[in-house]
Order: sequence, then C-alpha cells, then structure tokens
Amino acid sequence: MNFFITGFLIFCIKYHLAASGPMYGEYVRLAYSEEFPYVVSIKRFNNTNPEPETDHICTGVLVSHKHVLTIENCFDYLENYTTEVLIGRQNIRLCKKYYVAWWMSYTAWATLRNIKPEFLKNDITIIKLKQTVPTTITPATLSSMTSKDLYRSTVEIAGFGMTAEDRMTSYMETVTVSIISQRECEERIEKIGQNKCELNKKYLCGVGDPVALMSNGNSGSAVLYNGQLVGIHKGTCPVHEIMYHPEKINLFLSISYYQEYIVDVISNF
Ligand SMILES: *[C@@H]1O[C@H](CO)[C@@H](O)[C@H](O)[C@H]1NC(C)=O
Ligand SMILES: *[C@@H]1O[C@H](CO)[C@@H](O)[C@H](O)[C@H]1NC(C)=O
Repeated sequence: MNFFITGFLIFCIKYHLAASGPMYGEYVRLAYSEEFPYVVSIKRFNNTNPEPETDHICTGVLVSHKHVLTIENCFDYLENYTTEVLIGRQNIRLCKKYYVAWWMSYTAWATLRNIKPEFLKNDITIIKLKQTVPTTITPATLSSMTSKDLYRSTVEIAGFGMTAEDRMTSYMETVTVSIISQRECEERIEKIGQNKCELNKKYLCGVGDPVALMSNGNSGSAVLYNGQLVGIHKGTCPVHEIMYHPEKINLFLSISYYQEYIVDVISNF
C-alpha cells in the first residue's frame, strides 16, 4: 500500500448537506438501545417542530463528558439557529437536550498552539457542552490505529440520518464497511470518472460489500474498530451529480491523525 506516494491533493470537493437521506445499504440496521451511547445528534433548535429529526444536521461523538467531536462544515448549516446536541438514546425523540458553550476547530486550535497545519483543510471541530453528561454515559475510547493498521479491517459506523423521500428516521443506524488503501480508493473514484476527492493520510476510506453508503446527516458518525473510535465520517466521494453509485466510497477523518488535538482540547479546554 503506497499510502504516502500518491499526490496528496487531487481536486477538492465541497460536501453538500442539501440532499440528505439515511444510511444506504442492504445491511444497514437500527442500533440497539445503549449500543453506541456516545453517538449524538447535532440539530437545529425548534421547539414547535413535531418531527424533531427533520432538524438533525450532523452526527457527533462524545469524547468526554463535556466534549463532542464532529465535522466543522456542519456549522455552516447551523449558523442562523440555536444548536442542540441530543444525547443518551438511539431515538432522537427520546434523547436529552444539551446546549453548546463553544466549539474549537482544528484550525483554531493549531493557531492557538502555534502549530502549522500539514493540510490546508481540516474539517474537524470539538463542541464543548454547557452541561456535563451523566457518568452513566461512557464517552468513546480513542484509538491510535492508523489507516495502515486498519487496512482490510471491518469497522462499524454508527450515526443518525435525516429524512429520505418517504422515510423519516429518528433512529440511530449502523452498518459495517472495510477499510481500503488510498490507492484502491483512488482507483474506485477513477472508475466513476466524475469529480475527484482529496485523499491523504488524514483520511480512512471505507467501502461496504454489499454496498453501504452514508448520507450527509451521517457526517460526524462514529467509526469504530473493536469498540474503539478510529474515525468520524466526513462524506461520500464523489459527491456531485451522482446521488447513488455503487463504487462511491465513504471518507472518514482519522482519529489517530487528530489525536494530539483531541486530547489537548479534552484535557485543557
Ligand atoms: C419550526 O417548526 C415548525 C413546524 O415544522 C415550522 O413551521 C417553523 O417554521 C420552524 N421554525 C423555524 C425557525 O425553522
Ligand atoms: C443566515 O441568515 C443570513 C441573513 O438572513 C443569510 O444571508 C444566510 O444565507 C443564512 N444562512 C443559512 C445557512 O441559511
């Protein structure tokens, strides 16, 4: 696996949250209650919406009793709303609501710590909650396994999705995929022949057999190996034009790559 050889930037893509649906795939199933207690829904506040799952924007992962890891881009869709974080159940309608004190993106952290980011784009952020989550809820355990370590391993993805055409889902879903190499990932994307994706060592590429693809509401979903957090879902690639294509891949941000940032924010902020 030539992870570092291939040029790190092939065109970049912008992930859109507009056309969202739940996880797609034959083996997608509902999460059992208490199976992934650290997986949360990040949503717009709207007290009068009888279908609160339609306000879901992204998934997040509790990495301490006060910190939630997610995709930074999600906040573009929350700017005009109060943000709520729903925690504690596998059904959005039954979760307890928490509110956001602040958030610190990787970019903000790197500036503060005087670290020069290796990559221009680092679409990851940590939310600090106003309230503390009860000790009965165990945050996710961070794994230091890299893409190389995880090659050909089966990982579980767990997250919330949002409304698809005729299907409302307030339920957490889960599916398993395999981690492939950056080269295999590039080959699949080549086959589709549409836009390219940014691929480099901060990503893990996941593919399902049978096909399993995440939706945009799944951004921030937990990616787990042996019950430990190895990544969070960023988006599928390519994203434009083709809504569904069996060769599309799921791109995850690697926890091992961002470990120093995550540990520092959890411990010191
Ligand atoms: C809240 O939800 C209600 C019911 O769906 C909707 O009519 C209203 O426009 C929403 N408010 C906001 C601020 O989006
Ligand atoms: C937020 O509100 C501003 C001003 O009304 C508007 O220009 C902007 O497009 C809105 N953003 C989103 C994501 O809806």
